[in-house]
Amino acid sequence: MPGTQVLIDQHKIEKAVQRLAFEIKRDFQGTNPVLICILKGSFVFIADLIRALAIPLEVEFVRLSSYGSGTESSGKVKMRLGISNSIANRHVLVVEDIIDTGITVNYLLRYLRQKKPAVLKLCALLDKPSRRKIDVPIDYLGFTVPNKFIVGYGIDWNEQYRHLPAICLIESK
Ligand code: IMP
Ligand code: MG
Repeated sequence: MPGTQVLIDQHKIEKAVQRLAFEIKRDFQGTNPVLICILKGSFVFIADLIRALAIPLEVEFVRLSSYGSGTESSGKVKMRLGISNSIANRHVLVVEDIIDTGITVNYLLRYLRQKKPAVLKLCALLDKPSRRKIDVPIDYLGFTVPNKFIVGYGIDWNEQYRHLPAICLIESK
């Protein structure tokens, strides 16, 4: 298993989560928003984010796949698990771990928009803008990262490394 190197430590992640929660709270407080967790990578981030938000809200999970087992997006997105409850007229916030080409989140935003939410916004922990293929507006962003392969804090390489508490780079990638 390749070694890792810390890019963003736990303390910096915590501070970013607090800042994001403050910004989201300012815009969503009192709306009982639906937060949509994109599985699997966003589960650690959303778990911290909802506790920092500390407002009434609901959580839904979707599962999309665009990456195969490698490190490159295949460009073809499939919905593997959709949302069960209606989001019509609701305030909806999509929570993503990392936006790379933009293909995955663009697909999801288009899918959700058809369900006629009152508000649809996007929160991403990480943005890797150098590889963007489809422009997606990120309303709440944690960090911009370089064009390197990221793992940890829920984010995997071949299903490994999700447990790492920091955001890390894989050595030799
Ligand atoms: P996109 O469709 O290219 O924007 O890819 C987005 C998805 O690919 C994210 O939800 C991640 O799950 C995954 N991904 C993108 N970059 C990385 C990375 O550096 N490490 C691990 N997963 C990544
Ligand atoms: Mg993901």
